[in-house]
Amino acid sequence: MDDGAVGRLMERMTLAEKIGQLNLLAAGEGLVTGERQQTSLARRLDGGQVGAIFGTKSLATARAMQERALAGSRLAIPLFFAEDVIHGHRTIFPLNIGLACSWDMALIEATAAHAAAEAAAEGLHQVFAPMIDISRDPRWGRVAEGPGEDPHLASRIAVAATRGFQGDGLGSPGRVAACLKHFVAYGAPESGRDYDNVTLAWEDVIQIYLPPFRAGIAAGAASVMAAFNALNKVPMHANHRLVEGWLRGEAGFDGLVVSDYTGVAELVEHGLGPAPVSVARALHGGIDMDMVGEDYLRELPALAECGLDAPDAGFSLSADHITGLIDRACRRVLTFKQRLGLLDDPFRGLEGAPVAPDRATGRALARKAAAASAVLLKNDDLLPLARKTKVALIGPFAKDRANMLGTWAVSGRAEDVVPLDQAVAALTGRKPITAWGANIVEELWLEQRLNVHGVTVTRDPRSDAEQRAEALDAAAKADVIIAAVGEAKEHAGESSSVLSPELPALQRELIRALAETGKPLALVIFAGRPLAMDQIARHADAVIYAGHGGVAGPEGVADLIFGTEMPSGRLAVTLPVRPGETPLSYAAETTGRPNPGRFAKFRAGWLDLPDDAQHFPFGFGLGYATVRGSAPVLSAPTARAGDTVTLSQVLTNTSTRFTAVETVQLYASDPVARITRPGRWLIDFQQVTLAPGESREVVFAISADQFTYPVAPSLDAVDWVRDPGLIRLHVGPNSRDTETVELTWLD
Ligand code: BGC
Repeated sequence: MDDGAVGRLMERMTLAEKIGQLNLLAAGEGLVTGERQQTSLARRLDGGQVGAIFGTKSLATARAMQERALAGSRLAIPLFFAEDVIHGHRTIFPLNIGLACSWDMALIEATAAHAAAEAAAEGLHQVFAPMIDISRDPRWGRVAEGPGEDPHLASRIAVAATRGFQGDGLGSPGRVAACLKHFVAYGAPESGRDYDNVTLAWEDVIQIYLPPFRAGIAAGAASVMAAFNALNKVPMHANHRLVEGWLRGEAGFDGLVVSDYTGVAELVEHGLGPAPVSVARALHGGIDMDMVGEDYLRELPALAECGLDAPDAGFSLSADHITGLIDRACRRVLTFKQRLGLLDDPFRGLEGAPVAPDRATGRALARKAAAASAVLLKNDDLLPLARKTKVALIGPFAKDRANMLGTWAVSGRAEDVVPLDQAVAALTGRKPITAWGANIVEELWLEQRLNVHGVTVTRDPRSDAEQRAEALDAAAKADVIIAAVGEAKEHAGESSSVLSPELPALQRELIRALAETGKPLALVIFAGRPLAMDQIARHADAVIYAGHGGVAGPEGVADLIFGTEMPSGRLAVTLPVRPGETPLSYAAETTGRPNPGRFAKFRAGWLDLPDDAQHFPFGFGLGYATVRGSAPVLSAPTARAGDTVTLSQVLTNTSTRFTAVETVQLYASDPVARITRPGRWLIDFQQVTLAPGESREVVFAISADQFTYPVAPSLDAVDWVRDPGLIRLHVGPNSRDTETVELTWLD
């Protein structure tokens, strides 16, 4: 169909048919085969009342649903198929928070491209990804799915992932439409509690939470999903100012906006009025498709006929206005389908036998990604281990498969995971001594909650003392202890916020007991979130923060332990020192009483935090090689607004044995501004590989636009400013250990 196809369709469609296009439903199971055909979804398809479906599990199901939808639709308008492909599809990659720790945009693009190809081969057209919610709160479970705490890093990830999913454009074979989510500020809920509302200075919304969306849109992302939360009192499913105003206006988005799961219906609970009011608000606010709740389907016919007059809710719209809004949303749905090529060929991607990418290639990529995502936090000359080292592998994750997949693995399979004990055996040619050591959690009620989506947390019925004794016995027989500890997969993810982001108590006790043996101790932390590390790291000689690494997570870790891969991960999120240190960010604003690096009365800080606590800030991560950076050099100490200044630094790998993958990070601070600013913020980074002994120069280009900032008493009064004067540039291997040069803007 040509460009006018959408318009011509619209002319022929009835109101009911248009409303049907706005309905986005979950697939359920067994829909079109066997007895369960007459589910409500089947009835909806037969009645031409579905625009798209998410969660089909096979090409055959999708094809059957498409056939049924085409038969049920008077004008034969096809469905599109979507799915949550968050960190891989059939091949599960590390959690996104782990991938972010790779700081490797080519790798992130490659994982998204592979996931897209697997998804496309199952007839999917859209993925509900990338999830680009910045979060600075380790309590929030969905930090696992996101890009970490920093807007610059997250923006680059949004671009890389969008490119990976969409390739050169919608409709290319093996690619799918990206859906940026969750718009916006979902990662900053009150108390870190999932779904809770968000209150932020507009400057923070603009500088921290919106940039990844702007970047993803500029990269061509074809759709966006609204967030569950209210932001500064207005729920995002009724936020006309941000969705129609900022997203479509300022950021130039012209794609499709979908609700989150029953997000439209939830406006009622948000207190915005009964269903008709909430539906009118959502549609007016720019939510084009209604996921699962079917409130559009139920309410819009009457609203289009009678309009809405709800003085008690302070909201009224004429019938004509509502009809126009239905047209607007329907046109966007159809345009999306047209861009996907579905109006030309309703069976695009559903016919023949689309070729899934090679599984072995995916596995190799997953293994590389797992090694690149793990962060070496500490290493007192213990790692890498020689292959002949006699290892005791102790802890409840030593043989784990299911938890390794991480929180969003709808099409992943635990049997694809090679557990750590087997990965170590395969690499070294000998089986490690293993022991369970401690149950994942002590509390039975918590175990039940963690097993809500299938049992991944099991329990050793022996007493804690018996488990501990067996672990110590195993340790006694080995040269080195590797403790495999962490969180279950459901510890993180949706609706898995915690009060205390730290390793469960039984596992902390296990670590203490292992440390007391005096044997060299390496910890591998398999977690979904940033956990408080100070009291754990101090007991160990080495710590690898591995996250849930996907199908090849444990193999990637084994590669690091034995030095077949070099550690290169850098934290995408600051780890809290103690669980109460939250929310937190390296980029916290300056205060009038800054912390001097230790406790001082009448200075910002914590009374109960010891001065020798171990901090692991944003950007931090060690390698096996040591890299030295020369003093940074600016091409000029002063500059005019139109100039580009360069900052260069020579990096030298001082190791004679190990290759280094160094991520050089450039931060800025603005010591004199009109409002309080972050203490420092990331403006650029580069990743370089250095052979043993190699030196290489890295050069950053710096321009004035990197230093503009908003002064925004409201979203309608944003003043972007940049003042002449001093800027400090900090360059180094993480957000803390940097060298500083000064640049003065003359105008
Ligand atoms: C989540 C979304 C997800 C949707 C569909 C919601 O609960 O917030 O991220 O895409 O479900 O599964």
